[in-house]
Amino acid sequence: MSEENIATQWDPVGYDQNARFVSDLGEPVLQLLNPKSGETVLDLGCGDGELTLKLIDAGCHVIAVDSSPAMVESSLAKGINARVMDGQHLEFEGVFDAVFSNAALHWMTQPREVIAGVRRALKPTGRFVAEMGGQGNVVSVLAALTKARQRRGLAPVNPWYFPSVEEYRQLLEEAGFQVPVIQLIPRPTALPGELRGWLETFAGSFLNTASAECEEMIAEIAEELAPTLRDDSGKWTVDYVRLRFMGCNSFDLR
Ligand code: BEZ
Repeated sequence: MSEENIATQWDPVGYDQNARFVSDLGEPVLQLLNPKSGETVLDLGCGDGELTLKLIDAGCHVIAVDSSPAMVESSLAKGINARVMDGQHLEFEGVFDAVFSNAALHWMTQPREVIAGVRRALKPTGRFVAEMGGQGNVVSVLAALTKARQRRGLAPVNPWYFPSVEEYRQLLEEAGFQVPVIQLIPRPTALPGELRGWLETFAGSFLNTASAECEEMIAEIAEELAPTLRDDSGKWTVDYVRLRFMGCNSFDLR
């Protein structure tokens, strides 16, 4: 098995066409954050910054980070204070009232490092409010992707981390957070177009994209999933499951 680069390559144009729903569906986690004017907020995994703009509109002072230089460029073009940073190695100390994250934490497969960095970044009274893929997220697509690789003798890959409520609560509590809210929310999500666009945007690490097999794999996966995920009018709906939570700092100040 040759070495493969499984890092996802983000393309803001493709993201805008195939994944605009990601920020459009961010309202519930924004409500849970309940941002107040004047608060200092870190947007962790800001993507192209569409949701970050809502934090700014709410009067927050926002720093946005993302590991993708292309996505950070896109945020900077919108006037956002954005920088390239790996969420698993956050470089802030005690500066934020809140750390916010939507649809990004499932790309960070070292959750202990993420949570420790978030806790360090927060003020003693700070909160961590986020939504990510949870246990069972896109399970049918993941199974089809995995089988398509197996049929070709390709090694298994999985760039996604979809924890259960129990697992993530434990990680948060071990890091010192109190967890007043944590829930798993099934959210079947209609795609704006074909499954192909979703696969190209989100599943590049599975698809051996540099090879001629990529097209063949996409066709095979779409054929396998059409009976369950595509309706009679041709509309695709993917089996998303969200994990939404709030962790509150509980520093011992004695
Ligand atoms: C998500 O937002 O849950 C997600 C999107 C694409 C791939 C994996 C997870």
